[in-house]
Amino acid sequence: MTSSRRTILIDTDTASDDAVALIMAIRSPRVDIAAITTVAGNVPVDQATRNALYTVELCGAKVPVYTGAAKPLLRELETAEWFHGLDGLSDHGFAPAARVAEPIHAVDAIIATVLANPGVEIITLGPLTNLAVAIAREPRIIANIARCVVMGGAPCCEGNVTPAAEFNIWVDPEAARIVFLSGLRIEMIGWQLSRFDAALQDADIKRIGALNTPLADFAIRCNSAAAAAYQVQTGEVGISLPDPIAMAILLDPRLSLSSSRHFVSIETNSEMTRGMTIVDRLGVTTDQRNHLVWKDVLASAVPSDICWELDIAGWKKALADSLR
Ligand code: BDR
Ligand code: CA
Repeated sequence: MTSSRRTILIDTDTASDDAVALIMAIRSPRVDIAAITTVAGNVPVDQATRNALYTVELCGAKVPVYTGAAKPLLRELETAEWFHGLDGLSDHGFAPAARVAEPIHAVDAIIATVLANPGVEIITLGPLTNLAVAIAREPRIIANIARCVVMGGAPCCEGNVTPAAEFNIWVDPEAARIVFLSGLRIEMIGWQLSRFDAALQDADIKRIGALNTPLADFAIRCNSAAAAAYQVQTGEVGISLPDPIAMAILLDPRLSLSSSRHFVSIETNSEMTRGMTIVDRLGVTTDQRNHLVWKDVLASAVPSDICWELDIAGWKKALADSLR
């Protein structure tokens, strides 16, 4: 009998919301995780690896973890400890994992995993550095990737780092540009989807607390710093979880209630709009007047699927189910 479980690879700058996304994938009956690869972003890459290993161990799983890029392709690393805490998990002093990372670089692991698993699905929860290097080094992987879900971007120009840009894209815009122009079909799960009612409210947090499991307790506690920072950042109350929302959609695409397909480019030159995900919503890039500036995108990219609306009740149910 063949398994109906899909094979996935998760690339993550593991901090608080990433950790919850890892739990959702590890606990899901829908997928097998071939590899978790880490990248510098929220925290330095070695801390991201420690957090990924801790989370895998907490789930009692044995998924291999590979450490990847320590900095963006061309820029200095800018981290987000102000949002996630110094250790990325809100500084509760979670005990270090006993396991260690595999002795293979994340980029090599991505290439080997994708070549060995045609039809593999990839989800990126951090800057796109590892995937960009893997594509540049071994472009044949593109044909083997059935889906590529990217948590990143601000398609409504509603950035969380600058007015124009979302963190994962802003940290390494050159890498994002490589990935978006690579010919891979991207499913873009922008940051704005995790705001307002999609953030966990008091009632949701109580419901999760009532599960009374170590995973439920960890999911809430490791996000305590992020919840406080989110309120400062947006004035909104709640636990906003962009990476778990992207993971929920990877696991169950029906949770994306509305999406449309457009060319996307990434701004790499301007400091004002660095890392902006420019979405061609009206299809004007093919107009003659735009040919010069958009010719690279039109020549090598395929349009991305932009998610506009999330099934909020469905996402919260998927989260709670994974924490039982
Ligand atoms: C993204 O940036 C990080 O802080 C989160 O982990 C998420 O991947 C949201 O902008
Ligand atoms: Ca992340």
